[in-house]
Amino acid sequence: MALIPRLILQYLKQLWSHRRYPPGPFPLPAIGGLWRLGVRLSPDTFTKMMKHYGNIYTIWIGHIPMVVLSGYQAVKEGLVDHSEDLADRPLTPFLEASLKGRGIMFSNGHTWKQQRRFGQVTMRKLGLGKKGMEHQIEEEAQQLVETFARAKGQPLDPSAAITKAVSNVICALAFGSQFSTEDENMQKLLETLDFGLKFGGSFFHALYELFPWIMKHLPGPHKAALSALDMVVSLVKKEVKKHKKQQSLHEPQDFIDFYLLQMEKSSNDLHTTYDEENLAECIIEFFGAGTETTATTLRWALLLMAAHPDIQGKIQKEMEDVFGASCSICYQDRKKLPYTNAAIHEIQRSRYVFLSGVPRQNVKDVTICGLLIPKGTFIMPDLRSVLLDPEQWETPEKFNPHHFLDKDGNFLAREEFLAFGEGSRVCLGEQLARIEIFLFFTSLLRSFSFQLPPGVGKINTKPAVGLTMHPHPYKLCAVPRCNAP
Ligand code: HEM
Repeated sequence: MALIPRLILQYLKQLWSHRRYPPGPFPLPAIGGLWRLGVRLSPDTFTKMMKHYGNIYTIWIGHIPMVVLSGYQAVKEGLVDHSEDLADRPLTPFLEASLKGRGIMFSNGHTWKQQRRFGQVTMRKLGLGKKGMEHQIEEEAQQLVETFARAKGQPLDPSAAITKAVSNVICALAFGSQFSTEDENMQKLLETLDFGLKFGGSFFHALYELFPWIMKHLPGPHKAALSALDMVVSLVKKEVKKHKKQQSLHEPQDFIDFYLLQMEKSSNDLHTTYDEENLAECIIEFFGAGTETTATTLRWALLLMAAHPDIQGKIQKEMEDVFGASCSICYQDRKKLPYTNAAIHEIQRSRYVFLSGVPRQNVKDVTICGLLIPKGTFIMPDLRSVLLDPEQWETPEKFNPHHFLDKDGNFLAREEFLAFGEGSRVCLGEQLARIEIFLFFTSLLRSFSFQLPPGVGKINTKPAVGLTMHPHPYKLCAVPRCNAP
């Protein structure tokens, strides 16, 4: 059909179905309700929408309706009470062209169930015990301390060193402990992946999602992003090939080893989804979902420590009182460090890494907070709004570790802490991320006091909007502590 009549017909259909969705900004041709979000997204874009339209509202992204769940009550009702109904992810045209329904994060149905279950079991196998991932993370934390020590208290930007440490952990998980980001193939993989991820937040990506039938035939960065992904898949497959050659030589030690074993076991199963395509996609997701999120949280952690020296001092005192200067701290020790544990949760709450959340799609009609959401709708649980919900947190806008402490100073786990999502699709790497953040943070704070560089009186602690909500570039002094372990 010619382009103009096709667009007119699409808009008329949109106006007709508009009545069936929760309220929201009126959809205009081509841009839908995006006019209401303003030219630039800011950290409080969605808060303003919630104040205007209530806890459930619809924003039309072009001709696609997106229903946003805001605040703890609505998000909990969606993700917990309707966990199975909201178990799908929407497969947008670009996701379909690039990931083809593979892996865990953007797969659905049988593939998702099988890959996720396997991912969970294998993460547990790799993470358990001192010899597992925790030991690997402790070693990376030690390397990070040594890198910071080389700056001898002079101002440094910690970003690159943190990203490297976190990527090395994922490298070890996926490919085995002998791999690191120093490897040439690995560098290429990370750079290409970074390019692909940045495309995810770009204008051309939005164009592709809205007008795939035109964009498919045009040159541009979307084509480069698709070939970048193909390139990453082939790099991962090269490593898979190497693992295959060594397979019989040792016990399974990393994700690829376990996956190859599973492929062998299920080779006679007609419905198996264990194949090299899904394996490659799982690994790409571990890098994509597990590097930037964890690294950004750690960058926030150091910045907030420098901005709140009183809180930093209390954490250091608690660690010293419990462990002195000598023995090393493991993840289990968080139970003996309630103030430190509370501060880590508060870092994740007050400086959440996502602008909103990760989208879901409902597999059948659902009613949430009394409003009907038709089957197959793109649903965005706004996790940021939960972490800043004024009805749940005493001082939502203020960095305050007491949000996670009871009146006797014991650690208080809060149901409203939904940084990792909730329900059937809750973050697969939650445990790994928690261990990483705890071990990196405690190792760094035992060794250094983080301070603003001389002459810098104040530092910007407001988030910048990007792929993640990250701090503006900054430099800090990591001043060695005399009673460091
Ligand atoms: C601070 C660090 C992290 C944060 C804040 C975070 C947050 C999230 C959130 C909010 C979701 C969506 C959950 C939902 O839909 O309810 C998610 C999904 C996911 N995350 Fe994480 N994540 C982090 C680290 C990691 C790490 C280290 C890995 C892996 C190595 C990982 C792998 C995944 C995967 C595979 C999914 C998709 C799960 C599914 O769809 O079944 N994440 N994460």
